[in-house]
Amino acid sequence: MKKFFVTGGAGFIGSAFVRLVLEENEDISIVDFDALTYAGNLENLKDVDDARHTFIRGDICDRDSVLNAVPDGCDAIFNFAAESHVDRSIHSADEFLRTNIIGTQVLLDAARAKNVRRFVQISTDEVMGSLPDESDDYFTEDSPLQPNSPYAASKAAAEFVLRAARETFGVDTVTTRCGNNYGPRQFPEKLIPLMIANAINDDPLPVYGDGKNVRDWIFVDDHCRAIWKVYENGRSGEAYNIGARNEKYNIDVVKSILDALGKPHDLIAFVTDRLGHDRRYAIDPAKVEDELGWKPQMTWENGLQSTIDWYLNNQAWVDNIRNGEYRNYYKAMYGAELKAT
Ligand code: NAD
Ligand code: DAU
Repeated sequence: MKKFFVTGGAGFIGSAFVRLVLEENEDISIVDFDALTYAGNLENLKDVDDARHTFIRGDICDRDSVLNAVPDGCDAIFNFAAESHVDRSIHSADEFLRTNIIGTQVLLDAARAKNVRRFVQISTDEVMGSLPDESDDYFTEDSPLQPNSPYAASKAAAEFVLRAARETFGVDTVTTRCGNNYGPRQFPEKLIPLMIANAINDDPLPVYGDGKNVRDWIFVDDHCRAIWKVYENGRSGEAYNIGARNEKYNIDVVKSILDALGKPHDLIAFVTDRLGHDRRYAIDPAKVEDELGWKPQMTWENGLQSTIDWYLNNQAWVDNIRNGEYRNYYKAMYGAELKAT
C-alpha cells in the first residue's frame, strides 16, 4: 500500500483529487490534512467513505502537527492547501504569505525529515502574470515568473522555496501550473459558482470591468488526472503547465451560464474592475501532453452543464455557505454596487 499525504483535501480541487485517486487505485491510502478554513468543507468529502482515507484537521504552518501527521514510509506529499482567492488577497495579504509560503516550507522540511519520496506542489498559471489581449502568446514552462496579485506572488514565492529545497537538500519536487478550474464543490466566491448561484436566485451577476478578461478553463477532474501523471512520471525539478486550450472571455462564460439556466442577460451588472486585474491567461500544455501523454477528457459544453446541474442538485451545500460568514464577505465585496443576496 502506497501512502500519500494530501494537504487541502477538503477544498475544491483537493477533495476531487482524493476522490479520484481512491476510486482509481486500490493500493493507495491517504492522510488528508486540512485546516478547514472558510474554504474547507467536510461536506466535500462526505461520499469518500473509505478506510484508506484518514482526515486530520491541522494547519500546514504548524510544524509539530505536520510532522506527527505525515505517515512513516510516505510516498508523496501533494500540497493543495492554500489561500486561493485573488480578491481576498487584495483585501489582505497576510494569510496568503503565511499559508502559501511558510506552509510550503514547513511541508518541505517534513518531507526531508520523513524521507518522503516525492513532493508535488500545486501551483498556478497566475505566477506567470498576464498575457496581452488577443495575442498569439501563451504561457510555457519557460515564461518568466511575473506575479501581479498578492495571491500570485505568494504562489510564486512558494515555487522558489520549492526550488531551494531541491537545490540545497535534494528534495525530489515537481510542480503543476494549471489554469482556471471549474466543477462541483467550488466555493462560490469564484466566478463560475458565484454566477451560477446568483443566477439561480435571480440576483445580479457582478462582472468586473468590461468583461473582456480571458481565462483558460479546465474541468477539475482533468486537472487532477494531470497532477497524477506529473506525480508518476514528471521529471524531478520540472514544472508542467496544465490547460485544456479553452480560452473564454468572462462575459461569454457568464452569458453561457444564464442561457443554460434560462435566465435573462439583464441580470448582468458591470461593476468596478479588480485592482491589477490580469487581462489574459492562456496555457500551452504541449509539455504535459507530449512528455506525459495527458489530454483533457471533458468538453467545455459538457463540463459547464454538469457543473450547473451539480449546483442545481446541491442547493443545500450552497445555502449553507451563503447563510454563513460568506454573507459578510459578499456585502463587503459587492454591497456598495449590488443589492445584497
Ligand atoms: P480552495 O480554497 O477551495 O481550498 C483550499 C483548501 O486549503 C481548503 O480546504 C482550506 O481549508 C485548506 N487550507 C487553507 N489554509 C490552510 C492551512 N494553513 N493549513 C491546512 N489547510 C489549509 O482552493 P482550490 O481552488 O481547491 O485550490 C487548491 C490549490 O490549487 C491551491 O494551491 C491553488 O493555488 C491551486 N490552484 C487552483 C486553481 C483554481 O482554479 N481553483 C487553479 C490552479 C491552481
Ligand atoms: O488561473 C488559476 C487561478 O484561477 C487560480 O490560481 C486561483 O486560485 C483561482 O481563484 C483563479 O483565479 P482568477 O482570479 O482567475 O479566478 P476568479 O474566479 O476569481 O475570477 C475569474 C475571472 O472572473 C477574473 O477575470 C475575474 C472575474 N470575476 C470574478 C469574480 C469573482 C468577475 O468578473 N466577477 C466576479 O465576481
